[in-house]
Amino acid sequence: MLTEIKRAAELIENSSYTTVLTGAGISAESGIPTFRGKDGLWNKYRPEELATPHAFRKNPSLVWEWYAWRMKLVFSREPNTAHFALAEMEKLGIVKKIITQNVDDLHERAGSKNVLHLHGKLRDIICSSSLCSYSTQNIDFIDSIPEKLPECPKCGSLLRPGVVWFGESLNPEVLTSAFGEAEKSDLILVVGTSAVVQPAASIPLITKRRGGKIIEINPNETPLSYESDLSIRNSAAILQEILLHLKK
Ligand code: OAD
Ligand code: ZN
Repeated sequence: MLTEIKRAAELIENSSYTTVLTGAGISAESGIPTFRGKDGLWNKYRPEELATPHAFRKNPSLVWEWYAWRMKLVFSREPNTAHFALAEMEKLGIVKKIITQNVDDLHERAGSKNVLHLHGKLRDIICSSSLCSYSTQNIDFIDSIPEKLPECPKCGSLLRPGVVWFGESLNPEVLTSAFGEAEKSDLILVVGTSAVVQPAASIPLITKRRGGKIIEINPNETPLSYESDLSIRNSAAILQEILLHLKK
């Protein structure tokens, strides 16, 4: 393991523009369940009943109930050593951008400033009408769910979580920015993602195509493992040890 940590530190030190792609696995040790795998959310719940525009139209109370539960869970948990290590690497000028698929705010709470949320954020509440651009971060209504659902003060439509649902497109500006970062990078750290959801999973391949390297940190094998220059089969917590080797 020590050799891999040293090798990762070496690749990071030799890179001039390092980007990070994170997934649910980085927040697992904060007590936030991942989506796939043994205890994954999508093993217990059906995404088509909870995380699609159709589900929200059909049963907004059920969808809101699930999101209110997740919001309370996420906001009561703390960032872990992996989030802190990445924030420290950003402060040291090593990590330029974190591209995350996570809707939690643990990167920000650990101190990271440059974070792109590909799948939106649980902190953002938006209007469900495509004609209305209202958004808020006020979540005072959360304890009234599911008895009373929040309504848009501008147009009266229901408010909804500001996350990307299945069947929806990603925010084009965020996606363009993420692709641009991958294009600029000569190294991308891929941490805690099953790398099966597109277009996120293809981002590291952009870096690789322009001659950059991929380091994957994941206790399990993923489709990206074969594309990686270094695959560390371990928890995201190993980032803390990589950071210690960087400082030496
Ligand atoms: P997944 O749940 O698909 O994958 C989590 C990954 O984290 C798996 O590959 C695990 O092996 C790994 N993992 C588990 N514990 C870990 C640890 N302690 N340290 C490091 N890795 C660990 O989550 P994502 O890849 O993020 O989309 O899923 C992608 C998207 O699918 C999510 O953003 C969400 C979901 O449907 C939307 O909500 C749009
Ligand atoms: Zn509205």
